[in-house]
Amino acid sequence: MTITYKDEYGIAGMRIAGRLASEVLDYLTPHVQPGVSTNALDKLAFDYITQIQQAIPAPLNYNPSGRNPYPKSICTSINHQVCHGIPSDKALKKGDIVNIDITVIKDGWHGDTSRMFIVGEGSIAAKRLCQLTYDAMWHGIVKVKPGVRLGDIGHAIQTFAEGQGFSIVREFCGHGIGQVFHEDPQVLHYGKPGTLEELKPGMTFTIEPMVNAGKRDIKEMSDGWTIITRDHSLSAQWEHTVLVTQTGYEVLTVSDGSPPLPAFVTATAC
Ligand code: MF3
Ligand code: CO
Ligand code: CO
Repeated sequence: MTITYKDEYGIAGMRIAGRLASEVLDYLTPHVQPGVSTNALDKLAFDYITQIQQAIPAPLNYNPSGRNPYPKSICTSINHQVCHGIPSDKALKKGDIVNIDITVIKDGWHGDTSRMFIVGEGSIAAKRLCQLTYDAMWHGIVKVKPGVRLGDIGHAIQTFAEGQGFSIVREFCGHGIGQVFHEDPQVLHYGKPGTLEELKPGMTFTIEPMVNAGKRDIKEMSDGWTIITRDHSLSAQWEHTVLVTQTGYEVLTVSDGSPPLPAFVTATAC
């Protein structure tokens, strides 16, 4: 395990990359409407990242361990798609839920964040899943401080989501991030308290739970990237990149358009 601990210089770079990734989501938000294709969103994001932000869309041509290179600049995972959905010419329709996942590289540093969008008016079940997954992510984030272990984070997320009758995907996890897109440690969204790596100041990693309305099982589509729920139930995901500070956490992927914090977070924050 090779965890990189960021110094003040690295933290400054990560803050900028994190904010830029979040600002891409802000920029896309008004465009996520019935009738827009995910390819159109991909093009908007590519142009914004490369021309306005002078940054690099990290997913484009990403090929960890010899996979076929990812062909687009963003991931768009719709309804029963869990993650890594590839943008296409198919239009979003009213009632769809879509995760848009953005990773940018700025001055060598990565910022990685995703949000759920409900297209037009959504069903009660869709809204509930998206809200609960957002809260699940935050149940993990608020645990972050030196001395806590990764198992504590996973446990908090798992008990919250499963306690509401939802399931947590096991095959994909959060990850260390910095000058490398996916680095150590793995950040599981399930687990046992007091286990796994101890958090130390300067660690930066993502928390990105995938929550299914049905069973937790998944399968990969023949495109080699898109992951779907095996039972075709709805799936949601949110993602933030966080820094372990001396006293707790700092969320790096924040911008003016970041959604408000859940009430249980603002109630305890100082
Ligand atoms: N952004 C995703 C994550 O949260 C990874 C996408 S890899 C890609 O880790 F190649 F599919 F873009
Ligand atoms: Co990630
Ligand atoms: Co991501």
